[in-house]
Amino acid sequence: MSDRTRFGVLVSGSGTNLQALIDASMTDGHPAEIAVVISNNEEAFGLERARQAGIPAVHIGHKGKERAVFDQELVDTLVAHGVEWVALAGFMRILTPTFLSAFHNRVINIHPALLPSFPGTHGQKQAFAAGVRITGATVHLVDSGTDTGPIVAQGAVPVLEADTEETLQQRILSLEHCLFPMVFRWAAEGRVSVTDGRASVDLPEGEQRFLWGA
Ligand code: GAR
Repeated sequence: MSDRTRFGVLVSGSGTNLQALIDASMTDGHPAEIAVVISNNEEAFGLERARQAGIPAVHIGHKGKERAVFDQELVDTLVAHGVEWVALAGFMRILTPTFLSAFHNRVINIHPALLPSFPGTHGQKQAFAAGVRITGATVHLVDSGTDTGPIVAQGAVPVLEADTEETLQQRILSLEHCLFPMVFRWAAEGRVSVTDGRASVDLPEGEQRFLWGA
């Protein structure tokens, strides 16, 4: 087995963020390897993206199962693939302590807003409706709340006069595709830690501006 950090990626939908992680992981000397992609949705295009990249793609349905049972199945599959870190790339299920205790402070999530504003679903839509002038994307570590875990990195985008929900969503998504692979790399390099509920990233001074997307 290589000494690259083994990630599992969980998706529920189209998986453009998964694709950004796959593309990053396939670059020369990248410190992370995606060992398995799991979806609760059999139809998720993310599973197809994984297959196309030669990565094991697993469907685990959640319907009719208790949350803890579903989460244990996720954990068992991740552990069977030797996973050390997990990335949630548009995974639309809340994880229970069953899952989080197995991967304590080793689960990253991408959210389409500047947390703690606009948590939950449709962060872009919520920002558009609120009429904010600036919004963005957040990568955070996952805890048992809804998008409440320690923030690792954020980037901002403007909301333009001519924007529709769709154009704003697209601008945020482009930002996500830069931000998420960046934190993915830092996690794989062992730079991300949590102290007293705050995340910190061990970066050279010249690179710290990446934490706020500059
Ligand atoms: C992304 O915008 C991601 O931030 C969002 O789902 C989308 C998935 O797109 N996640 C959440 O809203 C989580 N609360 P993708 O499948 O193309 O990566």
